[in-house]
Amino acid sequence: MDYKVYVTRRIPDAGLDVLRREYRNIQVNPTNHRLSRKELLEKIAGVNGILCMLNDSIDAALMDAASDLKGIANYAVGYNNIDVAEATRRGIPVSNTPDVLTDATADLAWALLMAVARRIVEGDSLTRRGDFKGWAPMLLLGSEIVGRTLGIVGAGRIGTTMALRSKGFNMDVLYHSRRRSKILEAELGARKVDKDNLIEESDFISLHLPLAEETRHFISAREFKKMKRTAYLINTSRGPVVDEAALVDALRVGQIAGAGLDVYEDEPELHPGLVGLRNVVLAPHVGSATVETRTKMSVMAAENLVAMLKDERPQNCVNLQVFK
Ligand code: DGY
Repeated sequence: MDYKVYVTRRIPDAGLDVLRREYRNIQVNPTNHRLSRKELLEKIAGVNGILCMLNDSIDAALMDAASDLKGIANYAVGYNNIDVAEATRRGIPVSNTPDVLTDATADLAWALLMAVARRIVEGDSLTRRGDFKGWAPMLLLGSEIVGRTLGIVGAGRIGTTMALRSKGFNMDVLYHSRRRSKILEAELGARKVDKDNLIEESDFISLHLPLAEETRHFISAREFKKMKRTAYLINTSRGPVVDEAALVDALRVGQIAGAGLDVYEDEPELHPGLVGLRNVVLAPHVGSATVETRTKMSVMAAENLVAMLKDERPQNCVNLQVFK
């Protein structure tokens, strides 16, 4: 059966090749921008499979437009952009891309942590503008990482990998998670603690929560008040997990020492005031952005979609109920 497939952004060829081997009618958004809601509605009219990005909102109206939809393959591990309950009601399977991006995202969390603790971006700007006048005893003093306390919020795949990378820094590791992590306890002697303990005791807090109603603004003014003034917040999960207005206030008045962010509450908009702060390192949502990882994600998403179009269970289905 030659199904119609729409891919909402250009992805690495390896994934497109998987689709092209199976189907002739593959359309890919040829532009270098995210389609507007109107454009997306037009493009997906009548398609049978969608391979979409984390910033495409796939809701009931979209599912109505693609009236004969057999599968939605998200090009991301997080799938808060898809109304999965609605897809499930309609019997449409939804897939994501776990595992393949774990290392890349954990690496980025560390890159942000080190960049903000050692003031790398400030140093880079200073050097480029010609203000490096030679070694100086008080120039850009940052914070040590060795021996400090790392607080991991969400001990899933990425949170666990981020924590395991702390071995070389000999850190005390705390974690807050629904389930106990035997790996973190065995490998690092990590302690499972409640949210407030983690917030109060950590020197570096790294967020690895999926976005859901109960995790929205998980870190807000109340938590910033409890954090150490010398502590840093790292967020590579989803922007709305942090109340960005409260974060800007906390950074501005020195309630915390700094933050490293890859995600924002209202991407790609930034909260006013964020860009003017020196104690924050800002990345443009590039957690999984390595050639290797994005290539694997493209193949995984495409294989998931092919399986769904064949009425088979995709490897990474997030609503398995539709197959029961
Ligand atoms: C994901 O897959 O959810 C990541 O945010 C992509 O970078």
